[in-house]
Amino acid sequence: MSVLRTKQLTKKFGDFKALDGVNIEVNKGEVYGFIGPNGAGKSTTIRVLLGMLKATEGEAEIFGMDAWKDAVEIHKRLAYVPGDVNLWPNLTGGEVIDLFV
Ligand SMILES: Nc1ncnc2c1ncn2[C@@H]1O[C@H](COP(=O)(O)OP(=O)(O)OP(=O)(O)O)[C@@H](O)[C@H]1O
Ligand SMILES: [Mg+2]
Repeated sequence: MSVLRTKQLTKKFGDFKALDGVNIEVNKGEVYGFIGPNGAGKSTTIRVLLGMLKATEGEAEIFGMDAWKDAVEIHKRLAYVPGDVNLWPNLTGGEVIDLFV
């Protein structure tokens, strides 16, 4: 079963093509390493998969659902741990946790 799938995924920022026909398939039970040089489009791909950015063309699916249209349903079953986080510098770690719970 495919848990994550992109097909000919394309994302443009104005005239600039950040993603150009990306095809990924990750099946149940697989661990997938998504690597590439700076500016390759990793974060952009993840943002499309998380429903934060709308694809220009192509498909992005998680659990067989559309990453953009079905984002609310997908997010009930998905967790994302970002590599870089910008929180509130004036709050302590404990205060940030209190804010989220
Ligand atoms: N909001 C945006 N507006 C315009 N261009 C963007 C935007 N976001 C990303 N880009 C461009 O799209 C390309 C892909 O960027 P992206 O951040 O997805 O790469 P990355 O693989 O995550 O890089 P890094 O390894 O540095 O995190 C880069 O050329 C970047 O400058
Ligand atoms: Mg990145």
